[in-house]
Amino acid sequence: MKFITRREALRQSGLYLLGTAACAAFPGFGIGCSQGSVDPEKAAALMQDTRKAAVAAIRLTVVYDNVSYRQDLRTDWGFACLVEGLDRTILFDTGRYDDRLMANLSRLQIAPTQIDTLFLSHNHPDHVGGALAVLNARPAIDVALPASFPSGFKNAISKRGGTASACRHPRKITNHCLSTGEMHSWVRSEHALIILTDQGTIVLTGCAHPGVVEIVEQTKALTQQDVLLVAGGFHLLMDSASSVRKKAARLKQLGVRHVAPSHCTGSEAMEILAEAFGDRFIQSGAGRAVTADDLN
Ligand SMILES: [Fe+2]
Ligand SMILES: [Fe+2]
Repeated sequence: MKFITRREALRQSGLYLLGTAACAAFPGFGIGCSQGSVDPEKAAALMQDTRKAAVAAIRLTVVYDNVSYRQDLRTDWGFACLVEGLDRTILFDTGRYDDRLMANLSRLQIAPTQIDTLFLSHNHPDHVGGALAVLNARPAIDVALPASFPSGFKNAISKRGGTASACRHPRKITNHCLSTGEMHSWVRSEHALIILTDQGTIVLTGCAHPGVVEIVEQTKALTQQDVLLVAGGFHLLMDSASSVRKKAARLKQLGVRHVAPSHCTGSEAMEILAEAFGDRFIQSGAGRAVTADDLN
């Protein structure tokens, strides 16, 4: 696996990572600025309305990532991950360029027609760039997105027969999945995908701009379940080593069993997380498939 350096990440990610750079200049910028409070009664009702998927059936395949895992897949700044083994197949985010997304899907022998639901974590181009191409290939699907997405984007989904489902508050996405609800930061509002399983929750994050710790706290407040895995972008690229160590310790304190960070996590942060989680650190990157075998 190839870790990415801070400098390389900033070069690849372009101007929209100015928010990330601002984190360095102004500690706290963009991290955990606001977290939706969880109404226990509503959370309980939400949990009653969902079911737990069997971990044995679940497969998470990283389709798009700037971190390399399988050499035959193209790497590029962004993130996308296919979730299979649930009542519906979910594509979580879509990377930056539609042609690269489609090429990686093809290389992984995944047809867009397999996708039942599109989940868009936040409105940054490296996460939504391939969304309309997916809708062109697979029209009339549900698209779960933060309520703050621009109306033009929602209209483009509707024009292709899709249904934009705005997630302002925590809500059911499929029988096995929830949205954390829109969480806010100075950089961008974002929600994360919570998959309920028979061995705890799996949390998928796009960039984790509201803070990966805050997202896990929100997940635990909602579900009252142990966290089996947190995967995706952790956005620790500009954190100091001591800050990453504190966050790794907090994730462990929250009972997170496995982590599979990639995308905007940063190479130094990934090394620290690998040290903190030991054999429960899962190397991720484009082409990586995480299954029950990785989650013992
Ligand atoms: Fe990102
Ligand atoms: Fe982002």
